[in-house]
Amino acid sequence: MSETPVLEVEDLCKALGGKTILSDVSFSVRRGEMKVLIGPSGGGKSTLLQCLNFLHIPDSGVIRLEGQAVDPRARKALYGYRQQVGMIFQDYNLFDHLNALDNVALALRKVKGLPRGDAEARARAELARVGLSDKEKLYPAELSGGQKQRVSIARALAMDPKVMLLDEPTAALDPELIGEVLTVIRGLARDGMTMIMATHQMGFVRSMADEILFMQEGRVIEQGTPEALLDVEAGSRTLDFCTHLAEFEAGP
Ligand SMILES: Nc1ncnc2c1ncn2[C@@H]1O[C@H](COP(=O)(O)OP(=O)(O)O)[C@@H](O)[C@H]1O
Ligand SMILES: [Mg+2]
Repeated sequence: MSETPVLEVEDLCKALGGKTILSDVSFSVRRGEMKVLIGPSGGGKSTLLQCLNFLHIPDSGVIRLEGQAVDPRARKALYGYRQQVGMIFQDYNLFDHLNALDNVALALRKVKGLPRGDAEARARAELARVGLSDKEKLYPAELSGGQKQRVSIARALAMDPKVMLLDEPTAALDPELIGEVLTVIRGLARDGMTMIMATHQMGFVRSMADEILFMQEGRVIEQGTPEALLDVEAGSRTLDFCTHLAEFEAGP
């Protein structure tokens, strides 16, 4: 018998402002899998990730965490679900008035109810995991973009998520800071974290993705391993998109 997927998404649909944004999106994510979302801007990647965390409530469709369907109207269940699904945004979403340690410790105290000392000890361990042990007293304004994103990852890890959703976590970073964040994410993947990540960092995608979902106009157009979709023989839409992406990034 095959193992129950960590996350299953079935026929997810979402309209915003009277416009269909997601149409019948279905896929499932195995434990320890790195699923990568690729596709043109406006294709629905962020909306999908936000539906998976119920920041947007899907119009229809089912989301199951470890086989359990989530009912967004059941507030307590939704609250429990959100604790198990970590979310990393492009722009970090840190509290500017809290230092790195408190940014990580806050939810441990408020959500998990840990005493301050325990919360801080756990927060220190997570900051160490992302290589920021010496930065715990610094405020977001004193950190680089790469460091801020690593604090945000530490904060998500502290909640012991079953799956992490990452929405273009390096898109807002200067090129020289991208590597340090991708290195941390690689480490999480090697440690067995289950992740769904929107990214166009193709070196990372080729080496780390177990499967790519290529999204366009709110639909999953192609789905497969990097080998299958990015091989020059594949003639896939994914490859075509990524080739143009490379030209765009290389400049005229
Ligand atoms: N709150 C909203 N109201 C109306 N349309 C939205 C809203 N948020 C996103 N959209 C539209 O949804 C589509 C998909 O956007 P998005 O999920 O951000 O795509 P991606 O992350 O792939 O660039 C776009 O056409 C965008 O304009
Ligand atoms: Mg987006």
